[in-house]
Amino acid sequence: MEIGLVGMLRAAWMAGIMPIVIASLPYSRLGLFHGVVLEFAKRGKIKQSSSHYKFTVPQRFFSHFYVVAVIWTTFLLLTMWIYASLVSEPYFYSNVSSHLPGGSNIFPFLKLHFISTERSCDSWLSMFLLLLMEVQVLRRLLETIYVFNYNPSARMHIFGYLAGLFFYVAAPLSLSSACVADAFIFSANEVTRFIFKGKGSMRATEFDWWDFVNPLMKLGWCQWFGAAIFFFGWIHQLRCHAILGSLRKHGRRNDEYVIPCGDWFDIVSSPHYLAEIVIYAGMVFASEGADLTIWLLFAFVVANLVFAAAETHRWYLHKFDNYPSNRFAIIPFIY
Ligand SMILES: NC(=O)c1ccc[n+]([C@@H]2O[C@H](COP(=O)([O-])OP(=O)(O)OC[C@H]3O[C@@H](n4cnc5c(N)ncnc54)[C@H](OP(=O)(O)O)[C@@H]3O)[C@@H](O)[C@H]2O)c1
Repeated sequence: MEIGLVGMLRAAWMAGIMPIVIASLPYSRLGLFHGVVLEFAKRGKIKQSSSHYKFTVPQRFFSHFYVVAVIWTTFLLLTMWIYASLVSEPYFYSNVSSHLPGGSNIFPFLKLHFISTERSCDSWLSMFLLLLMEVQVLRRLLETIYVFNYNPSARMHIFGYLAGLFFYVAAPLSLSSACVADAFIFSANEVTRFIFKGKGSMRATEFDWWDFVNPLMKLGWCQWFGAAIFFFGWIHQLRCHAILGSLRKHGRRNDEYVIPCGDWFDIVSSPHYLAEIVIYAGMVFASEGADLTIWLLFAFVVANLVFAAAETHRWYLHKFDNYPSNRFAIIPFIY
């Protein structure tokens, strides 16, 4: 099951990355393909100039992404926490197997878990990455509700909407793919055991914050440096979103656009996209860079946001004659 899930996630990221990369190649023959991919990716102010309003949904539906993301990430976090806490207790296997009819033969995979400290490390690392994801999607949910003032006529393509929903299911899964399948099987067995043997067969666990915090404290410098990169991007995205949200206050209409200034807006046109890339780079660093699925997730985020930023930059240059000429699209001094 693990190989299946990981394989499917990798295939899905590749399927998302390839069309964007091909559409970004500077060949005039790809113009039509570029147009099709762009039509799916356009939203808000960029889509205003588009004549195709068929198959679109309001851009404020962005909040749905983060509702799904918060619920799903919280669920994965809880599943992983139960798994990580029990896996890291070596005496648990003998206790459990002695309570089961048929002993370890019924749950042979359990033995594997409880003798493998490497697995235990993986699960705490996955939990740490999921915690970072939770911090990100919780803030994004609040921003879509309280910070952004979406233009009522702003739309996005239904394909972009479905891709967004998929992203926030697949991204937390990818961050924890090293052991999420094991965690699911383990939890399913715990529930099965509870149903067939009753509460008495369950291990009496007392909630102790220290049990939760202690293993996280043992994570290495990669995790903490990755977290520092993550929060560097996180804080700048918070500021840039506050700037975007403030543009329509002070009596301005909800369909009015102005040139944003301040924070990273002084260097690039889409600093909130740049900050998102920094946030995911932090997660890659925290994962120690050894997981291809997380690299593919990161590659998708970069491809998607660089593509959107290029179009946003073109839109600003076209819309405002006085647009600052020293601003780059998304990567300072490069692009
Ligand atoms: N992880 C990923 O793959 C991924 C993908 C997409 C987005 N995101 C993240 O989600 C966040 C929001 O993305 P988004 O594409 O919705 O951002 P956006 O298009 O820049 O829009 C954000 C809000 O700001 C408003 N706005 C933007 N520029 C404005 C201007 N010049 N004047 C007045 N209002 C302006 C928009 O209005 P309109 O609606 O009228 O345009 C919208 O309400 C970003 O931080 C991004 O990184 C992540």
